[in-house]
Amino acid sequence: MFCPVRRGPMSIAIETEGLKKRFRGVNAVDGVDLSVPEGAIFGFLGPNGAGKTTTIRLLLGLLRPNRGRISIFGEDLHRNRLRALKSVGVAFETPAHYEHLTGRENLDITRRLLKLDKPEIDRVLSTVELSHVADRHVRKYSLGMRHRLGLARALLGSPKLLIFDEPTNGLDPVGIREMRDFIKTLPERTGATVFVSSHHLAEIEQMASHVAVIHLGKIVFQGAMGELRGLHAPRLEVGCNNAAEATALLGGGARKVESRHGRLIIELPSADGAQSRAASINRRLNEAGIDVHHLALAPWTLEELFLQLVGAKTQPGQE
Ligand SMILES: Nc1ncnc2c1ncn2[C@@H]1O[C@H](COP(=O)(O)OP(=O)(O)OP(=O)(O)O)[C@@H](O)[C@H]1O
Ligand SMILES: [Mg+2]
Repeated sequence: MFCPVRRGPMSIAIETEGLKKRFRGVNAVDGVDLSVPEGAIFGFLGPNGAGKTTTIRLLLGLLRPNRGRISIFGEDLHRNRLRALKSVGVAFETPAHYEHLTGRENLDITRRLLKLDKPEIDRVLSTVELSHVADRHVRKYSLGMRHRLGLARALLGSPKLLIFDEPTNGLDPVGIREMRDFIKTLPERTGATVFVSSHHLAEIEQMASHVAVIHLGKIVFQGAMGELRGLHAPRLEVGCNNAAEATALLGGGARKVESRHGRLIIELPSADGAQSRAASINRRLNEAGIDVHHLALAPWTLEELFLQLVGAKTQPGQE
């Protein structure tokens, strides 16, 4: 039974229940339950083909689900599409603009559709730091500028919910950092809730307060960012001059030690005290006459994290 979302201090910006979308035999979105708290930067993380864009298109009413319900700020999308989407701004990964028009003219088209005042254009241009190129043709914009113009369009009318599909795709490292820093400040500056998809764990980690991980159309993790980080204790990566002896020395107890590309990967029991454990391992190796030239806490890679999450999900009783 789908319960309407209650408004109030714990308001939910997006809620989906049992959302399904099937394309010719492919379950692109397969029973997705999302709960996006108001004011969050909600990272929607998943590898290529996981179902991110399809979910976003469902949230925007651009696709009809085969099953499931969507509510946006408590409005049922199916029953009241216009009211539900009234306060939503969106930017897709490849921003589509009229090349022969200026940035300002592009925004003016949307401004008129939304029946907003003209100064709104200058406001959003200044927010995305494009005021200086407002009157330049979009065909002369860099990719980063095009992305920012897409965001500016999403910001027109000060929507309460911003949905960005892979907003850093194709940008160089500087552009990625600028975009990330910009998105991070949005809830504070505009009061909006941000739903942002990406296939980059590191990127989502650096900007999101909450995260859902989607894999083969199913949500395999959802929660506060800290909970995702806390799922697995960090590992220690050790480079030394005698890996075999070090493995024998350290691998005696319950601790799991494996060798990878000439380095030892040691699983720590918890994140608590990881630094002092690292120091004590270093000491033990030195005392045994083994030289340590590399010692670092190794973060889980996106791939490893996915494997862990998918594995955990298929254990009996976890479905
Ligand atoms: N219009 C469509 N017709 C048929 N299959 C589709 C369609 N759109 C998406 N799919 C399939 O649905 C699955 C999910 O695709 P989707 O585009 O939602 O993934 P994504 O997570 O956004 O991936 P990416 O990171 O590559 O953008 C994929 O298997 C894809 O091939
Ligand atoms: Mg996509």
